[in-house]
Amino acid sequence: MVKFEATSICILGRQPALGLAELESLYGAKRVEPIEGAALLDVEAADINFKRLGGTLKVAKILTLLPYTDWNSLIDHLKQNVPKHLNHLSKGKFRLGLSVYGLNVPPKQINYNLLAIKKIIRQSGRSVRVVPNKTAILNTAQVLHNKLTHLGGWELLLIKNGQQTILAQTLFVQNIEAYAARDQARPKRDARVGMLPPKLAQILINLAMGKFESSVASHQSSVKKLATSDSRPMTKRALRVLDPFCGTGVILQEALLMGYSVMGTDIEQRMIDYSTVNIKWLIDKYPQIEGFVVIEKSDATTYKWPPFSAVTSEVFLGRPLASLPDEANLKKIINDANTIIKIFLKNIVTQLQPRQRMILAVPAWRVKNGFKHLPLVDHLTEMGYTRLDLVHAKRDELIYFRENQIVAREILTLEKA
Ligand SMILES: C[S@@+](CC[C@H](N)C(=O)[O-])C[C@H]1O[C@@H](n2cnc3c(N)ncnc32)[C@H](O)[C@@H]1O
Repeated sequence: MVKFEATSICILGRQPALGLAELESLYGAKRVEPIEGAALLDVEAADINFKRLGGTLKVAKILTLLPYTDWNSLIDHLKQNVPKHLNHLSKGKFRLGLSVYGLNVPPKQINYNLLAIKKIIRQSGRSVRVVPNKTAILNTAQVLHNKLTHLGGWELLLIKNGQQTILAQTLFVQNIEAYAARDQARPKRDARVGMLPPKLAQILINLAMGKFESSVASHQSSVKKLATSDSRPMTKRALRVLDPFCGTGVILQEALLMGYSVMGTDIEQRMIDYSTVNIKWLIDKYPQIEGFVVIEKSDATTYKWPPFSAVTSEVFLGRPLASLPDEANLKKIINDANTIIKIFLKNIVTQLQPRQRMILAVPAWRVKNGFKHLPLVDHLTEMGYTRLDLVHAKRDELIYFRENQIVAREILTLEKA
């Protein structure tokens, strides 16, 4: 049941808890209500800064809540109501798509009903092209290619929620091509250090920086003014994200695209060179970037960094593994990673302010019945950290992995105690 006045709904990605965590961090737990695979939000869809969300596939505006889930009644509702809204559309042929969540309706049935809706629309004098459903849900590429979020296009969503059905219209859809363009097209990549997917980088940055964002980020404005704790406005680029294990610079890249300044350090000169080339390429490609950039070679276990607002990093992940090693070898790999990360945590804790935030992706290894965690995860309090808990995502859900991966990334949400 919808408890608060949700005005929008976010359809979440493959690991919904990660999407929930980022929404909670940006908008506050009270404005987010999880439902199966999605989140209801009491933020206007048009005000959601969609481009910075790594864990949301679609943002839709809730049009109405229907107090039933019966398919025929839902189709009757569409038949009666879709024609009433056609005059809001620009002249010419319009494109219509329908995605159905949680209602267990075969695509064939959906296509059949859509044809009937098409007929009714035609009778009202409009020409329309319907996007056929191969599956009940149109994927983001279909929504994008058919321009269903553009003028003259509609993607309607029917989402079962208990005994109700939410009818919503998609306003934004994740642009896979834009992510691929800034991931695969970067001049310097290095499979050996394991490249962080840009979407995961966005989630990590949102967890770190959410508390600086004004309660509702405006989609239209570039959100330059932020509320600080003493409520003075401050420019966004005055906020600096530090990545002490910057590798090829994915976190630096995504933080710059969000408007922040960045500092990246890494122990390897090659990585510093890669990050530098990549960020120069990014700034050429996106001239609107305003943040300042510092990239420097340094050892994260001993370095003293200049001031920063928050830390976001994918730390040393240990050796990349194609298969699970024997127990003795795995123990050694875990211990090696644990040692470096522990010394880093001890070094940086003296440089953090109380309650300053640090979001780390650390390795966790997939074994038969779950994950082997870094031993230090159980000693964070002794080291001077508080591990933050989210309302809508449990700790053990904040582990990013792909089916065939041995080394997963566990997300630690930390603050200095
Ligand atoms: C998993 S990679 C980070 C990858 C990065 N997020 C990216 O997408 O390219 C870890 C990085 O930590 C660096 N590293 C390892 N030990 C370090 C240390 N003691 N201080 C700083 N950097 C270190 C490695 O050179 C490597 O680039």
